[in-house]
Formats: sequence, structure tokens, C-alpha cells
Amino acid sequence: MLSWLFGKSKTAEIVQLDRIGIDIHSHLIPGIDDGVETVEESIEMILKMKELGYSHIITTPHVIWDCYRNTPDIIRQGLKQVRDACRDANIEVNVQAAAEYFIDEHFVEMLSKGEELLTLPGKRLLVELPYSTPLMNTSETLFGILAKGYQPVLAHPERYTYFHSQPEVFQKLVAQGCELQVNVLSLSSYYGPNVQKMANWLLEKQLVSFLGSDAHKMGHLDMISKCDKNGWLSKYPFQNEKLVSK
Ligand SMILES: [Fe+2]
Repeated sequence: MLSWLFGKSKTAEIVQLDRIGIDIHSHLIPGIDDGVETVEESIEMILKMKELGYSHIITTPHVIWDCYRNTPDIIRQGLKQVRDACRDANIEVNVQAAAEYFIDEHFVEMLSKGEELLTLPGKRLLVELPYSTPLMNTSETLFGILAKGYQPVLAHPERYTYFHSQPEVFQKLVAQGCELQVNVLSLSSYYGPNVQKMANWLLEKQLVSFLGSDAHKMGHLDMISKCDKNGWLSKYPFQNEKLVSK
């Protein structure tokens, strides 16, 4: 069914992600968020991710109650569709799913009611903040996640521009027990020079635990191949691989 994919020749890549091994942030389940739209697109991206050096993918659809009302059942159903397609295409890859939870009222309600939340290994909860306006209580909210027995992992801290003038916020969050996940493309100027500068600062201060592709479309993966001008991928102690055996 997907035999058209096998005719593609491998291109020489500048960046190899073998050292990272496991990707913990992407949008590869078709039709349930702003990521891929079809299962064929998912398969094409999974093949590209293998080519880049990933052997294990934990994909993380958005849960944003105003736009993407994804429940664990919806995500599990989508994961099955992707896995079935990988099996049909004889693609050897370990694909799992968690979620990227936007911190909104619904999230806080799910957390307080003890509803099922999909996590990364080690009960890690991938969460994102609003892009334009800061939450009134970022620190308290992340602390509330810890208090419920989850390990908060803040997605792409470098992209919250309102923190660019006060980067010490991240030192405080890490000291409080939050883990940070930087996007691969933030190592380049893809999201703008200020985001790149913030990512570099976080890495220089050794505040980052994980790297994520946050891949929504093939174009993101194409750009990863030439994004690492400062060599962080080969020298920084990202913790991604430690998640595989947990
Ligand atoms: Fe994302």
C-alpha cells in the first residue's frame, strides 16, 4: 500500500540524531491537531526521522481544550492507526504516544480531579504555556503538577518571548524541579534570533534536560538537517536516551 515510499533514496545529512535516539515531542497522529493530516504523511515523516537517526518516537498531540479536545482514547486510537501503517510498510520503529498539554482551565481541572493524563516515561508530563501572555502563576502551576506526583517537562521554554527579558525565571523553575525541553529548530534561527539566543543561553547554563523535534510537518524535519551551527547536538548531555529503558 505504501510501497511508493521505498523508492526514495537517502540523502546525506549534515546533522545526525543517533546520539539523541528518542524523540519526545512531535505531532504525528493524523488529523487530531495542527500536525500531520494523513497517515501517509505520518509514515513519510517517521521514515525521515529514522534517516535522521531517531530509533524511538514518542509523539505528543496537542491537548488544548479550546481547539484540540484530544482525550487519551482519541490519541490511543490514532496511535494504533500509525502503528498499523508502520507495520504494513515494514518500518521498524518504536512509536508511542503521550500528549502536549496546554496549561488552561481544563488542564488544571483534569489534574485536580485525577483524570488520566498521558505521560512520557517516568510520569513526565509535557506541558506548554501560552505564547503571547504569561500565566499569572506559572511557578505555582508547575509546582501543582509536581504535587500530584507528575514530573513537569516544560516544552520549548525558549519560545515564550515574555521570559526573554527575565531568563532567571528558568533557573528558578529548574531549581523547583521542572525539566526543560528545547526544540531542535531553536538551535537555528527558525523561530527568530531571540528564540535561538534564549536556547543557547539555556544550554550554556546547563538548564536543559531534553531535546524535541516538535515536528508538525515534513518541512520541520528537512530543516533539522542543517540547524546545529553551535554543535550542541554532539556535545550537550541531553537526557533523551535515558527515557528509553524506564
Ligand atoms: Fe508541540
